[in-house]
Parts: sequence; C-alpha cells; structure tokens
Amino acid sequence: MSAHQHSHTLLVTGGAGFIGSNFLLTLAQSRPSWKLVNLDKLTYAGNLENLKDLEQRANYEFVHGDICKSADVERAISRCSTTVPLSVVHFAAESHVDRSIQSGLPFVETNVVGTQVLLDVCRARGVARFVHVSTDEVYGSLGDTGAFTEETPLAPNSPYSASKAASDLLVRAAIHTHGFPGLITRCSNNYGPFQFPEKLIPLMIANASAGKELPVYGDGQNVRDWLYVVDHCEAILAVLERGRLGEVYNIGGNNEHPNLAIVHQILSALGKPTSLIRFVKDRPGHDRRYAIDASKIARELAWAPRFSFTQALPLTIAWYQSHSEWLGRVQNGAYRDYYARQYGS
Ligand code: NAD
Ligand code: TYD
Repeated sequence: MSAHQHSHTLLVTGGAGFIGSNFLLTLAQSRPSWKLVNLDKLTYAGNLENLKDLEQRANYEFVHGDICKSADVERAISRCSTTVPLSVVHFAAESHVDRSIQSGLPFVETNVVGTQVLLDVCRARGVARFVHVSTDEVYGSLGDTGAFTEETPLAPNSPYSASKAASDLLVRAAIHTHGFPGLITRCSNNYGPFQFPEKLIPLMIANASAGKELPVYGDGQNVRDWLYVVDHCEAILAVLERGRLGEVYNIGGNNEHPNLAIVHQILSALGKPTSLIRFVKDRPGHDRRYAIDASKIARELAWAPRFSFTQALPLTIAWYQSHSEWLGRVQNGAYRDYYARQYGS
C-alpha cells in the first residue's frame, strides 16, 4: 500500500521510550495500512535506535518535539493524514519514581502541563479517539490482600504517581466538560525489550550480567504485578479500537511477585551468585504492593495476557543478552547521538 492510501492515522507521543517503541514496532506489523507519527522530545528515556526498523517505512514519521509546546504538537498533527480519522495514543511522560523523588518539577511539566497542552490541541483538531496511557500507581498502595478496580479512589504517593493522577483527572475533565473522545488505561509494571536500565528488571539483568551488585530496596518484599510489554501493547490497541469512549480500563498480568524473588530468578537464570544482592536503604514512601483487577477489559474487550512470567522473563533476559551493544550505548550515553547522526541535527 502506498503512503497515500492510509486507512487511519495515529499520533503516538513518547514513541521512542520503552512501551511506545514496542507499541510502534508491533503496530507497524499488525496495522500496516496505518500512518504512524511519533512525537518525542528525546529526553534521557527516548532512544531512536529502538525504532531503526521503522525508519525506511513510507508510513512512519518521527517528529522531534515537546508535548508542552502547542506549536510542536501542531507540527506533529500536520504530518498526519487529513483524509482519514486521527487517533492519539499518549505515552509521553517522565516515568521513573526515583527520579521524581529527586526532582518533582519535570514530572509536573511533562505529565501535567504537557497532557493539558496535548488535550487542547487535540480537541481543537477534532481527534476521533485519544488513549491516555496511565498507571496503577495512581491508586496508591495495597495491603496484603485485594486489587485495584477502576472504582478504587485515586491516592497517589509519589511525585510520579501524583503527576500521573493529575493528568488522568485532566483527561477526565476534558471528557466530562467538552465531550472529548478520551479513554484512560491504567497498567501494572511492564517488563521486556527496550526498557531503560534504571527500572528493576533491566537494571538487575544488566548488573548481574556484569557481575555488579544488585541494589534491593528495604526488605525486598514489595510486591508488583508484572506484565510483559507486548501484552500491554495489545491491550492498548484493544482500547484504542474497541474501548467505550470516556471509560477507564485497568490492565494487569495477574502476576504478583516480591522484588527479591525476581532478583533471585534473574541471578539463577544467569548463573550468578546470590552474594551479588545488596540490601540498600529503602525508597522514601515506597509503595508496598500493587495488584490489578483486570476483569473489565477481559469482559468488555476480550483481552487477556498471552505471555506468562515463566515464558517472558527468560525471553527478556535473553533479549538483553543478545542486545549487549544496545545496552552498552545506553549505559555510556552514545545512544543520545543517534538522532543527530540519523536526522542530521
Ligand atoms: P519511558 O520513560 O521509557 O519513555 C517516555 C518517553 O516519553 C521517552 O521517549 C521520552 O523521550 C518521551 N518524553 C518525555 N517527556 C516528553 C515531552 N515533554 N514531550 C515529548 N516526549 C516526551 O516510559 P515508558 O516506561 O515507556 O512509559 C510510557 C507510559 O506508560 C508513561 O506514561 C507511563 O506513565 C506509563 N506506564 C508505564 C509503565 C511501566 O512499567 N513502564 C506501567 C504503566 C504505565
Ligand atoms: P521500578 O522498576 O522503579 O518500578 P515502580 O517503582 O514504578 O514500581 O521498581 C520496581 C520495584 O523494585 C519497586 O518496589 C522498587 C524496587 N527496586 C529495587 O529494589 N531496586 C532498584 O534498584 C530499583 C530500580 C527498584
């Protein structure tokens, strides 16, 4: 199909990040007739090397820009086809809890202000559907039992989750006030290819592979519900195509593990000794447990995760082992030159 015969145009924000790049790569396969436009600021978390397989495609375009600047958002939308419906999937965010503890302001700027700028431009442009990619962390922390439903009150505890909750409320307000065609997804912790090695699983794989210490916060008994990124991407696509406008959909793997158990699995898969584990000072305000009730998306959109942890954790470890050059360039900062080399500025 030629570049002029798109059936749909999709603007993705934050497509050079972990989940956004997985989403674009799978969509290029599963929806080959869609025009894909990726608006990304290329912060430390954006890595265009992830998307090098898309560069030559006629129906993919990268736009270097900031969601906080309406002119940048307008520029990205101007690259979208005008003759077919335009949808938006909004991934762009500051995403790391530890960084938000060091400095909250960039989280307010991108996650809160940037989302409002994006909403305003998208509303003026009459987008058909807008999926806001959020997190289960907006619900706060659970005790030993129970799971978050879409009705669980928002009770964010970190500057990261507070800024995400604020952005969710701005999307909700646009839906309620302006009849904006928004949908919100709230997913649990993801893992898989292209995740920046500051998050638990890729950091532990990278350190264990290099024989470095593995820093485990507190007692290592904090529990997260882990979902393979491909499953998350499929859930977002289901919400984009078939979700009911104005609704919130929780997404989860029904796959809870304490951090320490995951660290042990990684060490054992790599044949490394448990003596590499270092218990370090706990994260301030560290949420104890997250768990997702994903029955709404299962019931309404027939979505269920396809990958088990026993399948996909080894896949992820193998991916990092076979992409040691990618990891090396992320670790030494060389990945940040890719844009200039590829796009000449
Ligand atoms: P990431 O940090 O890997 O990527 C974020 C991307 O956004 C980067 O490419 C970055 O350059 C871009 N970006 C940042 N600020 C920008 C701005 N002002 N304008 C344009 N682009 C900007 O994040 P991720 O892990 O891929 O997460 C994507 C989304 O999914 C986030 O909204 C996050 O809150 C949400 N989420 C993540 C997880 C997870 O486990 N990683 C789980 C649930 C929800
Ligand atoms: P992280 O990957 O940062 O995701 P989130 O905080 O958004 O859930 O952390 C996952 C869990 O792993 C969390 O309980 C904090 C813990 N953790 C460590 O114990 N050591 C580390 O070095 C990191 C990055 C996280």
